[in-house]
Amino acid sequence: MDKFIIDGGRRLQGIVSAQSAKNSVLPLLAASVLTEKQVTIREVPAIADALCMVQILRELGARADFRGGDVVVDSADACSHEISSALTKELRSSVFMLGSLLTRFRRAVIAYPGGCDIGLRPIDLHLSALKRLGVKIEEREGFIFCKCDVLRGAEIALDFPSVGATENILLAAVKAEGRTVVQGAAKEPEIVDLMNFLNGMGAKVRGAGTDVIEIEGVKELRGVDYTPIKDRIEAGTYLMACAICGGEVEVRGVAPENIRMLLHKLRENGCKIHAKNDKIRIGSSGRLKCNRRVETMPFPGFPTDLQAQATALNSGGEGGAVIVENLFETRYKYVPELRRMGADIEVNGRTAFVRGVKRLHGAAVTAGDLRGGAALVLAALGAEGASEVFDLGHIDRGYADLQGKLTGLGAKIKRVRV
Ligand code: EPZ
Repeated sequence: MDKFIIDGGRRLQGIVSAQSAKNSVLPLLAASVLTEKQVTIREVPAIADALCMVQILRELGARADFRGGDVVVDSADACSHEISSALTKELRSSVFMLGSLLTRFRRAVIAYPGGCDIGLRPIDLHLSALKRLGVKIEEREGFIFCKCDVLRGAEIALDFPSVGATENILLAAVKAEGRTVVQGAAKEPEIVDLMNFLNGMGAKVRGAGTDVIEIEGVKELRGVDYTPIKDRIEAGTYLMACAICGGEVEVRGVAPENIRMLLHKLRENGCKIHAKNDKIRIGSSGRLKCNRRVETMPFPGFPTDLQAQATALNSGGEGGAVIVENLFETRYKYVPELRRMGADIEVNGRTAFVRGVKRLHGAAVTAGDLRGGAALVLAALGAEGASEVFDLGHIDRGYADLQGKLTGLGAKIKRVRV
């Protein structure tokens, strides 16, 4: 396993372009088996989760090849409707393969995707929605067996705007008989991206980005050549790196409205933000002011995937901050690692009370999950002295070439084999 060695305290300067959004690319790859025609997804980032999704497609019998930075999927020969437990464990968000497999094969079998580092991650909303579409579901010995004769459009109301459940419904409803209306749908930009991708295949989806989505079932879907939106969470991570280190950085490729709440919070910290089209420039100098409160909410609220990074940023700010994590039960596992760097944080349930310290100091810390690991890197970049960050596999799941991109901005970060 590798580790990062980071020399903190260097200002960041320059331009960084965001990768394609991890949380778009994954559902788009799942959607590629809805048709037997060729599908091309452009600029797929070299991240472990995307590689895992490609592996899942190959296990189904589809051809899925990396060509340059793109992935070309030809699933004409796909014949299996089962996803191995090894892959479901590795990539729990593969659960939205259920919708694709049911549309393609009318059957699907996946291992129950267990909880993970950030919470229980139940899938009750997925399963109850699929039942509304006519799917018979049996859970046995840790597996979920789904089958249906016909997928029929239905009215579906989600008790919570689950991103994955909303995506599963779209994938199961696009070729269903009749019309499906989803009330209480997730509104994330990645849902809009999936709608655009599906409509590019000839689907009839409307309303993504609002809490009511309508899907008119169609008979056939054609191939598509599609470029996903860029990764707003990766972009936010680089903006917060510059906020913590000081300097001037321009992040390219992400629409400011896709991270509006973060930009608002960064202005509260005392950063200068200038956003135009898909270019967001941040200027940061001197000690940041703590945000009084950061509360994660479904889109367009503050993203839960930037919560850990916000805690790291506030750890070195002036004053105090209350961080509330409303989406996942245990998304503070990185806090003890931040404490090793001198952070003053008390966690009580879903709330973290941060008292800003003048400066964090370097330490040897271990990533426990994707975004918590990114937060440790950010803290190390701003800390006094050298740090080591272990267990980079978590970070590799969602950030392509984090070390190279940060080095390009002037950070002193090396990746070495342990
Ligand atoms: C997606 O996960 C993202 N993953 C997550 O990003 C992100 O944190 C999350 O949405 C929220 O924005 C991908 O898109 C691949 P949810 P997902 O269903 O779909 C509860 C990252 O770091 N829930 O919106 O799993 C669930 O327990 C990852 O990139 C149910 O109760 O999120 C959680 O508390 C982490 N029952 C809340 O809803 C269900 O059936 C949000 O979950 C489904 C979800």
